[in-house]
Amino acid sequence: MNPPYPPPIDRVLYTEEQIEQRIREVAAEITARYRDRSLKLIGVLKGSVFFLTALARHLEIPVRVDYLAISSFSASKSSPGVVRIAKDLDEPIEGDDVLVVEDIVDTGLTLRYLLQTLAGRGPNSLGICTLLDRTSRRLVQVPVEFRCFEIGDHFVVGCGLDHKQYYRNLRYLAVLKPEAKG
Ligand code: PRP
Repeated sequence: MNPPYPPPIDRVLYTEEQIEQRIREVAAEITARYRDRSLKLIGVLKGSVFFLTALARHLEIPVRVDYLAISSFSASKSSPGVVRIAKDLDEPIEGDDVLVVEDIVDTGLTLRYLLQTLAGRGPNSLGICTLLDRTSRRLVQVPVEFRCFEIGDHFVVGCGLDHKQYYRNLRYLAVLKPEAKG
């Protein structure tokens, strides 16, 4: 059975206009930071694709894009975040200014692993940009340099964030009704 559309949401957290405005602001910060350089954006599949695309359209520096996919699983209850690369980048990053782009940072375990792995490949610099930062769930500290929004402990869909792989395509960010989570 198909999931309901429009989705069963509690409330809209940020509208399309608010998100677009904030992305423009963050893109301006990134443009200023990397002026006179070129930047490689690395998207972490799948959620970041929507944000990465919106962000890149407002960057006024030379940009390249590459993607990787990670898979995470819990080996045991005492080790919550074991992460590995399921699809690697197409190109090397040696000597590049790299910005890892995420839709959301929660525990930080994914990014800690990614930063360690990517740092070993010799980039000139390695930064993080995320659409959403949910610091209340953080287990390990990661240096998030650019963030659009800090959010509370809500289950959010839209702008790349999914519920059972659906609703990534919503142009707004919304809190799903608790009973809809299933
Ligand atoms: C989300 C997000 C990050 C990760 C963050 O991906 O895109 O990669 O979780 O969580 P963490 O900080 O607790 O490690 P998800 O596993 O939902 O995959 P998706 O992007 O394909 O939806």
